[in-house]
Amino acid sequence: MNLKDRYAVFGQPIAHSKSPLIHQIFAQQTGQSLDYEAHEVSAELFSSAAETFFAEGGKGLNCTVPLKELAWAFADCKTERARLGKAVNTLSVQADGSVLGDNTDGCGLVRDLLINHALMLTGARILILGAGGASRGIIAPLLEQSPRSIVIANRTVSKAIDLAGEFQDRGAIAGCGFNALNHSQFDLILNATSASLSGRLPPLEAGLLAENGVCYDLAYGDAPTAFVRWGRENHAFKSLDGLGMLVEQAAEAFYIWRGVHPETRPVIELLNFQRGENQP
Ligand code: ATR
Repeated sequence: MNLKDRYAVFGQPIAHSKSPLIHQIFAQQTGQSLDYEAHEVSAELFSSAAETFFAEGGKGLNCTVPLKELAWAFADCKTERARLGKAVNTLSVQADGSVLGDNTDGCGLVRDLLINHALMLTGARILILGAGGASRGIIAPLLEQSPRSIVIANRTVSKAIDLAGEFQDRGAIAGCGFNALNHSQFDLILNATSASLSGRLPPLEAGLLAENGVCYDLAYGDAPTAFVRWGRENHAFKSLDGLGMLVEQAAEAFYIWRGVHPETRPVIELLNFQRGENQP
């Protein structure tokens, strides 16, 4: 009989997920005894797979693409940040048996920017590219840092305007199309479009990035993403991808489940070292 607490990540595709390795290192670091596995689960099967996982004693689940909205619907109750993000990446069993949904993505991003990269968000002019689920999850945590402004630019302009409208009582935020960005400048540009995953970029003017501005792609890969390359070509002070965010959101999930904060820096260094070896 396995007496270890069981956790898992569900998603599709999931084969290349780094979450099992990350959580295994966190567990070793903090002396916690647990199992964490990756399971390929389709959107159609999510609800029954999650029911079974928890019925069999599973303690917590991470949910990734394309399951975050389904996990949101599955949760019996939700934290405020999950409610605002309309997506859940962390499910955990509560003492009364109910399942709590949380979203650690935005907090992971902010921690990566503030702590790992020592960047200042207070007073910053921030541009978010894209108005889908990935954008929605990061807006409230970014606004909490009191930036000067957030602009959301999207191919489908109405989605950017609607999304900005949902958060307008929390800070200075507006939505627009890419061609309305002419002559604007930003201290931080975040790519939250899915275009980068297929090597494409939204149309971006060269002058968008302020001097010493930073580019950050929420996606990551073994090789630099198209947006990370754009940042380098446009002389970004830093041009980063979402590997740090991945580790930080996992650390926050680990904290929710185990009540202890793991150290993220050695894990980020290890993953960076591993992909350095994989780069062409
Ligand atoms: P996610 O949950 O990852 O955010 P999504 O909700 O499908 O995924 O949103 C994808 C985002 O990437 C959207 O903002 C989408 O723009 P549209 O709303 O106009 O569809 C954006 N996107 C995808 N491909 C793009 C491309 N080639 N150029 C620009 N934006 C793109």
